[in-house]
Amino acid sequence: MRDSASASSLSSSATQPETVTPPASLPINVKGLKLSLKGPAGTVDILKNIDLAINAGERVSLIGPSGSGKTSLLMVIAGLEQAHDGKIEICGHNLRQLNEDGLALFRRHHVGIVFQDFHLVPSMSALENVALPMEFAGRTDAFERAREELAAVGLGHRLDHYPGQLSGGEQQRVALARALATDPELLLADEPTGNLDGHTGETIIELLFDLARKKGSTLLLITHDEGLAARCDRSITMRDGVIVSDGEGA
Ligand SMILES: Nc1ncnc2c1ncn2[C@@H]1O[C@H](COP(=O)(O)OP(=O)(O)O)[C@@H](O)[C@H]1O
Ligand SMILES: [Mg+2]
Repeated sequence: MRDSASASSLSSSATQPETVTPPASLPINVKGLKLSLKGPAGTVDILKNIDLAINAGERVSLIGPSGSGKTSLLMVIAGLEQAHDGKIEICGHNLRQLNEDGLALFRRHHVGIVFQDFHLVPSMSALENVALPMEFAGRTDAFERAREELAAVGLGHRLDHYPGQLSGGEQQRVALARALATDPELLLADEPTGNLDGHTGETIIELLFDLARKKGSTLLLITHDEGLAARCDRSITMRDGVIVSDGEGA
């Protein structure tokens, strides 16, 4: 970045305006995030004044007790839940200014999401699960691309299988292929190994780290596993809707 900036200033001339390299934008830039939800017992404050800045390419784990707000924070960052206050700037987009259609477009172009329970469409084959979201995003090479992505997660021989015909680990591989097919700037994973046995979970995590690195995706990973959290560049702990620690490793 610095090299190209100095190269461009050296090569600038009177006829060519100098190009100024803008500061690298933060994929996640959140300030004063508040989320409240109405329940039967009245309004509950789920997220209370969250500040969070994550740099491009960082791998960040999010840990904390059940109910501390990890999934809620991930849903706000993904544009699947609207915050009630604060600045929510994700991959350069102010999510609080986007309507539902805008948020759907934002997700298609910038974010890949992996859930604990896979979230595959049961009536669609592995190939269709990966290809159709890309086709909705207007890509004409969606099926070709989906074949490549499924081969990259070791499922080149399972393209026509339905989720019900695949093991849990295989279903999560399909979900990973789907999440990463568009080379997203941001990969969000919510306990992606929570429904898998230890060994299968480990292979999924290896694949997830490997693909995120190859694609250059910034990673926010919710996990209960402290060993896994420690493998990330930075570990954030939540409790009762606030961030209680934010440091390198765990
Ligand atoms: N749709 C909802 N309506 C009301 N309360 C909710 C809803 N979703 C989550 N909560 C509450 O928000 C809090 C945080 O939940 P969650 O983000 O799922 O935590 P975590 O992922 O850390 O377990 C919990 O107290 C939970 O009961
Ligand atoms: Mg959760």
